[in-house]
Order: sequence, then C-alpha cells, then structure tokens
Amino acid sequence: MPTLGVLLSGRGSNFRAIAGAIDAGKLDTEIAVVISNRENAPAIEHARERGLNAIVLPSKNLEREAYDRLVVAELRRNRVDLVILAGYMRILSGYFLREFPLRILNIHPSLLPAFPGLDAQHQAIAHGVKFSGCTVHFVDEGLDSGPIVAQAVVPVLDADTAETLAARILVEEHRIYPQAIALVLSGSYRIEGRRVLAADARG
Ligand code: GAR
Repeated sequence: MPTLGVLLSGRGSNFRAIAGAIDAGKLDTEIAVVISNRENAPAIEHARERGLNAIVLPSKNLEREAYDRLVVAELRRNRVDLVILAGYMRILSGYFLREFPLRILNIHPSLLPAFPGLDAQHQAIAHGVKFSGCTVHFVDEGLDSGPIVAQAVVPVLDADTAETLAARILVEEHRIYPQAIALVLSGSYRIEGRRVLAADARG
C-alpha cells in the first residue's frame, strides 16, 4: 500500500481531515510519518494520540537544503511514497523536489494562480474578488505554482473578514484534499503541460 508523509508547521486541521478520511475508509493509504518543523505544533500531539509516528525536526538556524536533507532522510526511512504539505510554511529546496518529482502535494487557500504566498485570504479580500477558494497542486520550484489537481470555489461575502473567509475556505480544503490525494494515489491521471487530466480523458 502506498504511504503518505505529512509535513506541517502548526494547527494541522488538514492533517486531521486526511487522517479522518483514512479512518473512514475513504482513502486507501497509511500515514507513515508526520513531521513538524515547529516544536509547538498542536498537530504533533494529536498525531501521537492517534498512534502515528510523529516527529519534530526543528528548522531554526539550519540552511534550507541542509534541513531538507534531514527531512528527506526521515521520509525515506519511513518509506514514504507521497509527500503531503499540510500547512507547511517552508519553501522546499531543489534537492527535496528532485528527490520526490511529482510526488509532493500542497494545499493553498486561494484559487491559484491568484494570491500565491502568505495571507492568501487577506489578499483576496483586499483585492475585492467575489470568489476565492482553495487549490491542491503538485509542488514545483515556483511559489504555489505546480500543476493543479483540484480546486473548490468559495464566495467572498460583503461581511467577510480574512478570518471568516479562511474558515469557510477551510471546510472546502478538508473536503478536496483527501479527494485529490485519492486521485494521485490511484495513478489514474496524466499530466499534459500544466494540466492534470483524468487518465482516460481524450486530448
Ligand atoms: C490552510 O489554510 C492551508 O491552506 C494554508 O495554511 C493553513 C493550514 O491549516 N497553507 C498555506 O497557506 C500554504 N501556502 P491547518 O494547519 O489547519 O491545516
């Protein structure tokens, strides 16, 4: 069975949604390891309560590639097939990307390519868009720029703040991330340029 390695930095609600989907039999995989780059990530405690292998690898004071070598070694040790970024607030080095080509997924709280980077929900409000949402994508060398696996649309309401919008987007994140992981694990897709297409889709 292909296994997941989850990387995170904080709250870990997407991690919980993925673990919940596995428990519910909606996702046929196992989480081999959960790694946090921050010591106080609440998700680590939760992962341990679930009986998962959860590790803190502090990234402070380490150069990007040196840190990524530690993370990749841990992923390899745990025989991880697919790397899941779930609120992982670090940019990956070229080394990491080359070790897991098209084997790293990220979720971002906007309809990419709009509003990459930090505070995407705040950027959406400030720009005045009427719809935002979330995107699951393969990770490449750019910032939130790899081929898109799944998206969900969320309306921006007049009364929204970045916080209320983020909360509604999060509901959709928890829905589409397990679905996107299931698709990638199934292997029934192909990538043409930037497009991720169903394996049987005709060109
Ligand atoms: C999520 O909203 C995720 O989309 C976002 O961080 C949050 C993590 O929440 N990720 C990014 O902004 C990545 N650029 P969680 O820790 O509760 O899953």
